[in-house]
Amino acid sequence: MQEILDELERRREVARKGGGERRIEAQHKKGKLTARERIDLLLDEGSFEEFDMFVAHRCTDFSMEKDRPAGDGVVTGWGTINGRLVYVFSQDFTVFGGSLSETHAQKICKIMDMAMQNGAPVIGLNDSGGARIQEGVASLAGYAEVFQRNILASGVIPQISVIMGPCAGGAVYSPAMTDFIFMVKDTSYMFVTGPDVVKTVTNEEVTAEELGGAATHTKKSSVADGAFENDVEALLEIRRLFDFLPLNNRAKVPVRPFFDDPERLEPSLNTLIPDSPNQPYDMKELVLKVADEGDFYEIQKDFAGNIITGFIRLEGRTVGVVANQPMVLAGVLDIDSSRKAARFVRFCDAFEIPILTFVDVPGFLPGTAQEYGGVIKHGAKLLFAYGEATVPKVTVITRKAYGGAYDVMASKHLRGDFNYAWPTAEIAVMGAKGAVEILYRRELEDAEKIASRTADYEKRFANPFVAAERGFIDEVIMPESTRKRVCRAFASLRNKSLQNPWKKHDNIPL
Ligand code: HXC
Repeated sequence: MQEILDELERRREVARKGGGERRIEAQHKKGKLTARERIDLLLDEGSFEEFDMFVAHRCTDFSMEKDRPAGDGVVTGWGTINGRLVYVFSQDFTVFGGSLSETHAQKICKIMDMAMQNGAPVIGLNDSGGARIQEGVASLAGYAEVFQRNILASGVIPQISVIMGPCAGGAVYSPAMTDFIFMVKDTSYMFVTGPDVVKTVTNEEVTAEELGGAATHTKKSSVADGAFENDVEALLEIRRLFDFLPLNNRAKVPVRPFFDDPERLEPSLNTLIPDSPNQPYDMKELVLKVADEGDFYEIQKDFAGNIITGFIRLEGRTVGVVANQPMVLAGVLDIDSSRKAARFVRFCDAFEIPILTFVDVPGFLPGTAQEYGGVIKHGAKLLFAYGEATVPKVTVITRKAYGGAYDVMASKHLRGDFNYAWPTAEIAVMGAKGAVEILYRRELEDAEKIASRTADYEKRFANPFVAAERGFIDEVIMPESTRKRVCRAFASLRNKSLQNPWKKHDNIPL
């Protein structure tokens, strides 16, 4: 009997070694952890339960039958993060470069199916040379099986991808369909075609890092939502993000213990807005001062800095924040910021995460680059996302809310539940200068008259009271009381129930 038990341990031991000591060493030399070391860091200690440890590939081409490592290049299973259920797969680069075979794909599909059935998120740790070359179309079929599951799981359970090595070819499309993609600096890259193919087809010379490294995807393409210094930081930060997310689209947001008074006043906010309307200030200061314990998990920090997106907690409950950032391009809405915020708003709405919006927006960015790039369509994404969202929506206008951008930024007219404004708010079709130049074009030569017209316009419109008179602003609030007001507003909306008309799905301008 003991022999039989020992045999299991022996087999487990071999499986845990993956591609063997030499390859594990090579992995460490690159500054990368192994698939199992990564899982150990990601999950609560001792919580990982593995599936399919002994699955092996069935390929017989290229003498593959002589090399059938247990596990077939991916470690799959489930465990907990701070006690909450999560499914995970972690590709093992030491086994055929983590390449995806038919059976490797089946292992991933199995845990995705379990995650869907049991309503828990999936985290994928990607480190793979792509399709297993020896398996040909069987491998492509495996990818497509994963893709189909990514699509059906979208909006049902949160899906997070961490790119921790190569991710090339069609393989990038599985992460691309998940909710968040994070990369590790210097050791991970993503591209549809690698540098060699690029050189052949377009004659461009580019390194893998330039083409698809973390800087490229967090700053230029916006494919990735964030990048971390190394594997350890990445995995610890994913644990932090996980704590903000609900387990599925029918679960409530998690409630964490909090030690920050919801009634806390912040007198420093009374002087946040500078005297000159053209002077910027840091909107992040407001976000941090409103959040429980100043804890803010920013998404897409390095892209479209003119809008801020991320998660905070209020009274221990997750809230998604969208905020114009006057420090970057005066907080204007443009193609990039609209796309970034629209996707974030849709994630929040899909998973019943309430949305807090801070507004200081001078309008949409004018110019040929924006028009040719389709700012109409991209701006409409954000408008659409806010308008269709049925989650609790609380909006605070701190300063400018001009033109179409006023409407877009979770205004009352897009079913904002609480629309607050600071006394410093300016809600109008446009700024005073632009308005006067159009209305009094014939008087433009007369500087004195124009100055007086501008002053009149500012007096009449550069305030929140015209909108408040109409009920478009529910209340003008003291800046120092923002946290208290916003906490109370969300507390009153906990049982909000709002349904959109039945439809197969909408036709958001993609
Ligand atoms: C089988 C692979 C493999 C693959 C790597 N290996 N990629 N085995 N299929 N796709 C194996 C290598 O033979 C090697 O085995 C081990 O993994 C490590 O690879 P190295 O090349 O030594 O490592 P490194 O120098 O770090 O380079 C990593 C790499 C490179 C950049 C990923 O291996 C590479 O370019 N691989 C091919 C990538 C590729 O073209 N994949 C197909 C993409 S198309 P040994 O035994 O020596 O350790 C695709 C389509 C998907 O994926 C479509 C979905 C719709």
